[in-house]
Amino acid sequence: MKEIVVEYYCGDLSACAECVLPAMLLGSLGREKNMRIDKFLSECGLASRKEAAKAARCGGVTVNGATVKDTALHIDPEKDCVTFLGKRVEYRRFVYILLNKPEGYVSATEDKAHPFVTELLPEEYRRMGLFPVGRLDKDTTGLMLLTNDGQNAHRLLSPKHHVEKEYRFTCKVPLIKDAERIFSEGITLSDGYECKSAVLVADGDRMGGRITLTEGKYHQIKRMLGAIDNRILSLERIRFASLTLSPELPRGAWRMLTEEQIHALLGEKA
Ligand code: URA
Repeated sequence: MKEIVVEYYCGDLSACAECVLPAMLLGSLGREKNMRIDKFLSECGLASRKEAAKAARCGGVTVNGATVKDTALHIDPEKDCVTFLGKRVEYRRFVYILLNKPEGYVSATEDKAHPFVTELLPEEYRRMGLFPVGRLDKDTTGLMLLTNDGQNAHRLLSPKHHVEKEYRFTCKVPLIKDAERIFSEGITLSDGYECKSAVLVADGDRMGGRITLTEGKYHQIKRMLGAIDNRILSLERIRFASLTLSPELPRGAWRMLTEEQIHALLGEKA
């Protein structure tokens, strides 16, 4: 990820008027490049294209030190230095967010009847087209990854990639004594589906524990517990691949993944 360094926008338009470089002039620099500045600002999550145009008209946008009033100007996001209302603009094509999903939210980008997870993000991130990577049930809490990187999201969800998902659960009655072995050998659900091997680590009182899966079928853990005549009382995802849910992140809160965490998640070298 390239960071675009900016200079400070003083906010005093009259003082800056002398410095305004007509977009036409800059255009010769920009036109063979690949992105309109309003598109760039909206993809960075800073403003809608309309808002970007308005801010530019008021002198709130600079490119390589020159105020730009026409947002039709094209820039090279990797190379050009952009400021927006005096803020440092960092070009991020893809964003990854780790959210601690509360109970009662559906894993969706919109829903008419229920609260949905992207509602918990600020408007500027929602504008970036973030969506949940996989689903958690409405009553399941915990680690939810959101991104706008469709290709890698698809890869992370593909059964071929065996991404581990770990859950903490409590159940209605004590786990039967063979539960670990049955889950490890691959339990068969009531519809005949044969689950992949799963790791179950039961609590001392066997009223709950942790389960690690490498697949994600509909209501999978609930149905796995159902297949051994038990019932899930609470379910929380605590790990997704290399990402863990920190106790410092309260329910409903979120944080951006760092570059390092993104590389680790995608199995790339930093
Ligand atoms: N298994 C379930 O039953 N529900 C979830 O939300 C996740 C895994």
